[in-house]
Amino acid sequence: MRMVDLIEKKRDGLELTKEEIGFVIKGYTEGSIPDYQMSAFAMAVYFKNMTDEERAALTLAMVESGDQINLSGIKGIKVDKHSTGGVGDTTTLVLAPLVASVGVPVAKMSGRGLGHTGGTIDKLESVRGFSVEMSSNKFIELVNNNKVAVVGQSGNLTPADKKLYALRDVTATVNSIPLIASSIMSKKIASGADAIVLDVKTGAGAFMKELRQAEELAKAMVDIGNNLGRNTIAIISDMSQPLGFAIGNALEVKEAIETLKGNGPQDLLELCIALGSHMVVLAGQSNTLDEAKQLLENAIKSGKALETFKTFLSAQGGDSSVVDDVSKLPTAKYKIDVLAKQSGYISNIIADKIGVAAMILGAGRATKDSNIDLAVGIELRKKIGDYVEEGEALVTLHSNKENIGDCINRVYESYTTSTEKINNPTLIYKEIR
Ligand code: URA
Ligand code: CA
Repeated sequence: MRMVDLIEKKRDGLELTKEEIGFVIKGYTEGSIPDYQMSAFAMAVYFKNMTDEERAALTLAMVESGDQINLSGIKGIKVDKHSTGGVGDTTTLVLAPLVASVGVPVAKMSGRGLGHTGGTIDKLESVRGFSVEMSSNKFIELVNNNKVAVVGQSGNLTPADKKLYALRDVTATVNSIPLIASSIMSKKIASGADAIVLDVKTGAGAFMKELRQAEELAKAMVDIGNNLGRNTIAIISDMSQPLGFAIGNALEVKEAIETLKGNGPQDLLELCIALGSHMVVLAGQSNTLDEAKQLLENAIKSGKALETFKTFLSAQGGDSSVVDDVSKLPTAKYKIDVLAKQSGYISNIIADKIGVAAMILGAGRATKDSNIDLAVGIELRKKIGDYVEEGEALVTLHSNKENIGDCINRVYESYTTSTEKINNPTLIYKEIR
């Protein structure tokens, strides 16, 4: 086989075989296919697309390019959740203990964040002592005992995706549905998931700004999962404004604790129950979504979900007393309210702009090597549809810096008010299965 022939074949819109796609990915990972040929190939895919079979073959080839995590030592069906990313997305912190508390094994492999806020690991590290360093045997033991554990990414997972993603980034080929879908799904499958629940975000704060695009991506990922024998479903949810109120690491842990206590923001709770219900059904712990929803709501009411969160934190060295006393979480030196300049109904909050404001305070990393400040972030005091009086707080900034004019300006640029009454945005647009 010659790479040039395969580029030509894709350029002309023909379908590649599983063997041909395997040849491309193996050659590129090993270095026998150079970047310039792979760039041309990615561009051909960008323009000519891929069939369902090609997408599944590409995903599998990327899974097989590196290590695959073996979770067979964990009893039960391992369901993983993946979000395409948004601003202040606290769902994992709530979902992991919530679904574990009703018997779904959660073996979560997570990373550090880049951008608005930290990743799940950064957030959890705001609990003193919490650690994600452990052997794979220990990880499996913790999931079997407590139904939930979070471990740092280790090993050489999907090296083909790492290399290809970096190449796509500099060749204007990131925004291709088959390439995005295979990239995300290869990582989930290599991490050992038996079944997958996807939260595909849409709106200003999301990767896929338009509902139509989000739907197309969701469908592509669901098809790949199902073609490769992983039961997969997707929810398309709103990211036109940040989820919940908190954006920032310790602030989001506090928000997750409140949600597990039943006092969390309505949108965060609703999304967690929707995603969680699918996880419970896919794991075989309920026959219907209604029954699953009931189980999860009861787990919050009875305190079982909160108890599971405590057990999970202690098992990984964390000080679980933060659950009863959230003042033990890192707190920022200054709390600064940003006040509304006029009265009216909040009609828009540009999520990605607010996200950048949080990053400037130090809640997220601008580059891979930036330091993160776990205590800082933004607490939204008003969301879309709320009425605000002139002089009332739009947000509260939690800062360790005094000089934050840039951040305040971005908050003002994010918020729009209207004299007309505004409805709350739809939270869940669709389910794709
Ligand atoms: N996220 C990924 O992991 N891969 C992509 O290609 C795009 C977003
Ligand atoms: Ca949040």
